[in-house]
Amino acid sequence: MGTHNTKPDVYTVIDDDNIAWLHFDKQHSGTNVLSASILEAFYEELLVLAERTPRGLVILSDKANGFIAGADVSEFTRLENHDQAISAIQRGQAVFDRLAALPFPTVAMIHGFCLGGGLEMALACRYRVARNDPATRLGLPEVRLGIHPGFGGSVRLTPLVGALHAMDLMLSGRSVDGRAAKRMGIVDHAVPERHLKSAARAMILDPPFPHRPGKLQALSNHAWVRPLLARVFRHQVGKKARQDHYPAPYALIDLWQQHADNERDMMHAEAASVAGLITGPAAQNLIRVFLLQEQLKALGRQSDFRPTRIHVVGAGIMGGDIATWCALRGMHVTLADQSPERIAPAIKRAHTLFKRRLKRPRPIQEAMDRLMPDHKGLGVERADVVIEAIFEDAEVKRNLYRELEPRMRKDAILATNTSSIPLAELRDVLDDPSRLVGIHFFNPVAKMQLVEIVRDDKTHADVVAKAIAFTCGIDRLPLPVTSTPGFLVNRVLMPYLLEAVELENEGVPAAEIDRQALEFGMPMGPIELADTVGLDICLHVAENLGQHLDTPVPQRLRDLVRQGRLGRKSGEGFYQYKKGKPIKPGLPKGYHPQDGISDRMILRMLNEAVACLHENVIDTPDHLDAGMVYGTGFAPFRGGPLRYIETEGADTLIQRLRKLEQELGSRFKPDPGWEHVSGFTNEEETSG
Ligand code: NAI
Repeated sequence: MGTHNTKPDVYTVIDDDNIAWLHFDKQHSGTNVLSASILEAFYEELLVLAERTPRGLVILSDKANGFIAGADVSEFTRLENHDQAISAIQRGQAVFDRLAALPFPTVAMIHGFCLGGGLEMALACRYRVARNDPATRLGLPEVRLGIHPGFGGSVRLTPLVGALHAMDLMLSGRSVDGRAAKRMGIVDHAVPERHLKSAARAMILDPPFPHRPGKLQALSNHAWVRPLLARVFRHQVGKKARQDHYPAPYALIDLWQQHADNERDMMHAEAASVAGLITGPAAQNLIRVFLLQEQLKALGRQSDFRPTRIHVVGAGIMGGDIATWCALRGMHVTLADQSPERIAPAIKRAHTLFKRRLKRPRPIQEAMDRLMPDHKGLGVERADVVIEAIFEDAEVKRNLYRELEPRMRKDAILATNTSSIPLAELRDVLDDPSRLVGIHFFNPVAKMQLVEIVRDDKTHADVVAKAIAFTCGIDRLPLPVTSTPGFLVNRVLMPYLLEAVELENEGVPAAEIDRQALEFGMPMGPIELADTVGLDICLHVAENLGQHLDTPVPQRLRDLVRQGRLGRKSGEGFYQYKKGKPIKPGLPKGYHPQDGISDRMILRMLNEAVACLHENVIDTPDHLDAGMVYGTGFAPFRGGPLRYIETEGADTLIQRLRKLEQELGSRFKPDPGWEHVSGFTNEEETSG
C-alpha cells in the first residue's frame, strides 16, 4: 500500500477525497501484461482495499502505450494439462470476481491498449472511462490465439452491451477505439486526455446507474432468441474459419447459447471451455505463431538505428507501394523513377490507401505531404535508407548503384528489393560493397507483413541490423535469410504451386485442387494464388529456381503465359475472372476426387522447407515456421511447416515422399536434410 522505494508492479495511492488510485506499472517492461504474479499482486491490493473501504477505486496504468495489453501469453505454453489450465483460469476469474464484488464504485481509466485480460478486468469494474483518441484500442482478441475470453469476459460483456456487439467483438477479435466503445456501451465516457482523470473521479464522487443495454440489445440474450442468433453467428464464422481448424469461435457461441441465463454456470463453463481449447493443438500452435511473431519483432531491438528519411527508386508496383507504406508509417519519403509520369500512378494509389487507412482529411493530407515525387532523385543525399525497386535486371541495377553511391550519406544503407538476383552479382560496382542488403517485400506490400532481409557473408552485420530495425520501424516483420535462389518464401512456395499446376495438367479440376488446399488450411488455393500473383511472374520465379534446384517447370505454365493468359490481371489464367473474382466451375459429373492430391502439394513444400533448414537459408527452425506462416499464410493452426512435420512424424512423411518419388519421379526425392530433422524439435524447445 502507498508508495515504496523500489516500485512494485502494482501500487495504490489514496488521495484527499479518499479515492484509491491503483496503478499498474509492470517493471522492466514497456507494456503491462497480466502475468500470474501480477494478478496475485493485484489481488493482494484488492484485499487491503476491501478492508480500508475508500470512497471508490480507479484502476489505471503508468505506461505510455496503454492500460493492459492482455495476459502474458508465454505462460499459456507452460500449461501442461487440463487441470493446470482450469486452475489458472479459475484463479483469474476469482481475482476479477473479487474486484466486481467490492462494495464501493470502481472505475477502469483506460488509455492505449486495453485488450484481452485487460478489458476483462475493466469489465469487472462498475464503470469504464476511456481516452477518445485513435491510439486507444479496446478488444478481446483471444480467438486469434485459438481461445476465447476466460476471466469472465464473455460472461460480463454480453449482458453489458447485448450479444450482437459482444459476439461481434469476441468472434472477430477486432479492437475498437474509445469513441466506438462508447457507442457500443462498453465504456461510459470517451473523453480527451485532459478530462480523463476528472471523468474517472466524477464516476466515484457522483456515481450514476451502471450502464444497461438498450431494450433490443438486452433482448438478444433471451433464451428464445439465442438459438436463432447462434445460428447466424455460426454461419458468419463459417465463412471465415472452419470448425475443425479453428474451434474457438464455435466454442464461444455454444457457451453463450447454453449458459447466458446464468452467470455462475457461465463462469464455470467459460473456464472449462477455455481450458479445453488452450491445451488443444490449434491454440498451442496459434500461440506459438504469436510468439514467433514477437521473436521476429524483437530482432529490431538489437539496433538503435531509427531512420526517418527514405528514398525509393522505381515507382512501379513494388517501389510505389513500398514508398506509400513508409509514408503511412510516418517516414519522410522521396520517390524516384525515370519520369514524373511513371511516379504519378503510385501517388494516386497512395492516396487511395491513405484514405482507406487514415479516414480523416488532416492525417491523409499529412501522409501525402510525407510522400514526395522526386524524379530527379534529389532525396538521395539526405536519405537514411535508399531502396532500389527497379526492373529485375542486374546490369540496370548496377548502373543505378554506380550513380547512387557517391551521393549517398556514408551511414545510409542501400537496399535492393530484388526477388532473384544474388547480392554478389550486384555489389561489386560499389566502393563499399558491404553496404548492400536485400529488403525483399512481398506483393501487395500493405497486406504482406513479412519482409525478407537478405544478406550473404559479405554484407556488413551493422547493415543487416539496420535493415531489420528499419523494417520493424515501419511495422513489418523482418525475416533474416541468406542470398540464395528464391530466398525462403518463394523457394518453399514454388514447388507447391508447380505441383498444383502438374495436377491440373493431369486433369484434376482446378477448383478441386484449391478446395483441398483450403481443407489443409491454406488461406487461398494454389491455382487461384498463381493466377493472383500472375502466371508470368510465377513462370519467371520458377525458371529462375529451376536453374538451381530440382523444380522442373511445367509446360502447362509456359503455354498459358504464351497465350497471354496471365491470371487475374489479364482476366484469364487457370480460371476466368469477372470483376477480379475467379469463376470456379463445378466438378464434372461423375468426378471422384482421387486420394493424395493435397499430399503431393504439401509434401513438396515440406521437402523444400527441410532443404532450406539444412542449407541454412534461415537462422533457426522458428524463423522458418514464422516465415512460412507470415509470408504465405501456411495454415497458422498447424504452427508452420516444421511444426507440422513434428506433429505428423518425420519418418511417416519420408516414407510418403519415397513412395511418390517411385511413382512420379525425382522431384519427390527426400532432401538429405530430413536426416537431421528429428533433432530440430529439441533445438526448437530451447530456442523458443
Ligand atoms: P515494375 O516494372 O512495376 O517497376 C519498375 C519501375 O522501375 C518502373 O516504373 C521503371 O520505370 C523504374 N525504373 C527502371 N529503371 C530505372 C532507373 N534506372 N531509375 C529509376 N527508375 C527505374 O517492377 P516491380 O514489379 O515493381 O519490381 C521491382 C523490383 O521488385 C524487381 O527487382 C522485382 O524483382 C522486385 N519484386 C517484385 C515483386 C512483384 O510481385 N512484382 C515482388 C517482390 C520483389
